Amino acid sequence: MKVGDRNFRTIWLDAADNTVVQLIDQRKLPHDFVIEDIRTPEEMATAIREMHVRGAGLIGAAAGYGLYLAALRYGDSFEEIRKAAALLAATRPTAVNLAWAIERQLKEISRGSNAEERIRRSRETAEAIANEDAASCQRIGEYGVALIRQLASKKNGQTVNVLTHCNAGWLAFVDYGSATAPIYAAHGSGLPVHVWVNETRPRGQGSKLTAWELGQEGVPHTVIADNAAGHLMQRGLVDLVLVGTDRTTYTGDVANKIGTYMKALAAADNNVPFYVALPSSSFDWQTRNGRDIPIEERSDDEVKAAEVWSNGVHHRIALAPNDSPASNFAFDVTPRHLITGLITERGICPADEISITGLFPERIAS
Ligand code: MRU
Repeated sequence: MKVGDRNFRTIWLDAADNTVVQLIDQRKLPHDFVIEDIRTPEEMATAIREMHVRGAGLIGAAAGYGLYLAALRYGDSFEEIRKAAALLAATRPTAVNLAWAIERQLKEISRGSNAEERIRRSRETAEAIANEDAASCQRIGEYGVALIRQLASKKNGQTVNVLTHCNAGWLAFVDYGSATAPIYAAHGSGLPVHVWVNETRPRGQGSKLTAWELGQEGVPHTVIADNAAGHLMQRGLVDLVLVGTDRTTYTGDVANKIGTYMKALAAADNNVPFYVALPSSSFDWQTRNGRDIPIEERSDDEVKAAEVWSNGVHHRIALAPNDSPASNFAFDVTPRHLITGLITERGICPADEISITGLFPERIAS
């Protein structure tokens, strides 16, 4: 998607040196646009753990490239590659795309009988994971735009107001985004759409990332404090809630950024449709109950301080007394009964086991 007048993906192989993976360092947005070079699986693990890259699809793609870097270094020893996989797998617990991409890569690499083959296979797989992620998001946009079109015609062509939480935009994937793909498709086809962007404390993925990327694409949007969403819904100012997910059970329970559940409750109370957009790589085909999804707990400092980068300088401002304890659950689970539907690369379906496995029958069999 657009950054200024150029198109970018979030992660790619350096065209001049195929031993280097390049990515946008998202910690520095919205003020500094910085591209980082990653040369080792250890550097990639740090980039994922410390959230230079984040968002379910992108975490999966980054792990895929991380294992390509591992094959380049340790191609002679599958055991060393396995160790790199374990390091990458331990970086973040909630986004299921991470384990999915690692498992896919290890399966492919294990088929290579020497270093050269392992490198070739891992490179092809990393590229395939990234390309499929982008293609799935594009398809989600094609299906999801129908919802916005319907709402626009119900409103006689007036602006459709979409509320989103966190960043399930192109910065959370390789391109297009999940929740934002229908919005970009609507905007691109001339449908009037406006986005309420939840700030998303504590890390501010809404205000720092979603607002930035919508702005680059010229999509009208307004940043709101997290606590404002219920009020807007009561006032009839939200036509559709559209969010992403880090892991969705095959029965339809949705783990997403902390605060999503409260938006879903408010949407149900106000009869606002609540949709979740996701590529199939974000389904957890093993876990039946959302209560069993591992929820990441991050440093309390993220709650107690605001952090930004500007002109290469890192600023940290304390928001709470140093000696006050804080807690920082990064995700919550929205139960399936609060969800109007799921938008996937194969179409839109209700959030229940029969519908989900009906769309992806081959996944449940494996
Ligand atoms: O902690 P993050 O930034 O990696 O969280 C991920 C998210 O941005 C959201 O939960 C998002 O809505 C789902 S990821 C596509």
